Amino acid sequence: MWTIIVAAGSGNRFGGQKQFMLLGDKRVIDWSRDVAHSIGDGVVLVVPADVADTEGGVAGGATRSESVRRGLAAVPSEATIICVHDAARPFASEHLYKEVVAAVAGGADGAVPGLHVTDTIKRVDSGGVVLDTPDRSSLVAVQTPQAFRAEVLRKAHESGTEGTDDASLVERAGGKVVVVNGEAINKKLTSPEDLEWARAMAATEI
Ligand code: CTP
Ligand code: MG
Repeated sequence: MWTIIVAAGSGNRFGGQKQFMLLGDKRVIDWSRDVAHSIGDGVVLVVPADVADTEGGVAGGATRSESVRRGLAAVPSEATIICVHDAARPFASEHLYKEVVAAVAGGADGAVPGLHVTDTIKRVDSGGVVLDTPDRSSLVAVQTPQAFRAEVLRKAHESGTEGTDDASLVERAGGKVVVVNGEAINKKLTSPEDLEWARAMAATEI
């Protein structure tokens, strides 16, 4: 199993490259990389082009999907299962990787961690007018790491399409994606408040 860690975003909502912020005694990206290293055969780090050499990674692209594609090109062809993980989720556990990988080893094309949503979710138009209210019991909020059969992930990315995660590309290509239990602590750091939360967690629980 190989892992692609995507860390080439600009962190617009955060106000800077959140992946390089200090979280306890190491950076956000280091937390994500260290867990992936400890359980897989290898890690491909995808980082902003200007730090690719210093970080020992490959240069990312303009979108998350493009960054994943650049990472995929650096994963050895022998890899049969590939995980894709957001660097901005520093607290994904080894257990979570094992769960998604086991689901793929067990026959799924892809596996994603998900948590049932607790808020009622509404679809709205660009003007903020409510279109409808999907049944909450059928909604899950998904996380990374997301695991895939390697050939399925490569095929889904072949056409250069875009999505906010990789499973959506595999779904569109007709692949079977299953959901395993996500972890509440596995939040994606998006705003400065999220980093404050993560620093408090790193200082206590981890
Ligand atoms: N990412 C990437 N290449 C991009 C965009 C995003 O590798 N062109 C990575 C980010 O570094 C992050 C993960 O994808 O680890 C999830 O993206 P997101 O949380 O949206 O991070 P950013 O795109 O950096 O943040 P924002 O959307 O607020 O600009
Ligand atoms: Mg983004």
